[in-house]
Amino acid sequence: MSVAGENDGETVSGAEPAFKPPHGVVPRHVAAIMDGNGRWAQARGLARIEGHDAGAKAAHAITEGCARVEGIERLTLYALSYDNLRKRPRSEISGLFKLLRKYIRKELPTVMDNNIRLAVIGETGELPKYLQREVNAAVKKSSVNSGMMLCVALNYSSRREIAHAAREVARLAAKGELRPRQITQEKLAEHLFTAGVPDVDLLIRTGGERRVSDFLLWQIAYAEIFVTDVFWPDFRAPHLHEALKWYATRQRRFGALEDI
Ligand code: IPE
Ligand code: IPE
Ligand code: MG
Repeated sequence: MSVAGENDGETVSGAEPAFKPPHGVVPRHVAAIMDGNGRWAQARGLARIEGHDAGAKAAHAITEGCARVEGIERLTLYALSYDNLRKRPRSEISGLFKLLRKYIRKELPTVMDNNIRLAVIGETGELPKYLQREVNAAVKKSSVNSGMMLCVALNYSSRREIAHAAREVARLAAKGELRPRQITQEKLAEHLFTAGVPDVDLLIRTGGERRVSDFLLWQIAYAEIFVTDVFWPDFRAPHLHEALKWYATRQRRFGALEDI
């Protein structure tokens, strides 16, 4: 249940009504690679940072859109990768940090109004202290909520996440607390940022690239992947609904045979 527990599907705090995907087939976990901010800005003769600013509005719309779909338990948004942080100009990164602070401040009322719990994944200890404080305060404030989880990936690398989990498991093995044969996929998954979270069902990538860019590699093992050429700043509820409708048509087999 997404919106404020007792909600009966009426509009909550804006214009978009609740959306019911066909046949009640709903992804429990939606994840989005929010790509195309820079190209969106470039096409308008704007600075890249303007694209990121516009992207924050799309993040707002999609968060509300997902919170209004009964059955979506988690939305994970890829906001900043480990490689972005290291490979982009310092000016873009510091602009992004400031925008993230603005986004969190602006988004907190939406989060609270929609009974959303906020979480972050990634190596957040490397973010500027002022941003860490803002993030931690928002996560704490929203922890009383019971609806959809909004998880923002910041300074995130999936390969590093998996390597970290392997190190943790190796440490336990070295201490004699774990035998090699007890190192199963379930055990490793316990040491990922996403421990206890259902795998991604629907992965959306905007901006047209057909790649996963070090995002949730473990967790998307059987995800349905929806790629759209729409740049992230233009992505809105109707695009989300299109992705959800497409998802409802997929036959997920998880390696088994289709029903005969
Ligand atoms: C995605 O948009 C947002 C971040 C990576 C922070 P981009 O900045 O990658 O936009 P494009 O791909 O250059 O258009
Ligand atoms: C992925 O987009 C990262 C985020 C959306 C935060 P990128 O723009 O960094 O991915 P690549 O470089 O095109 O693979
Ligand atoms: Mg990009």
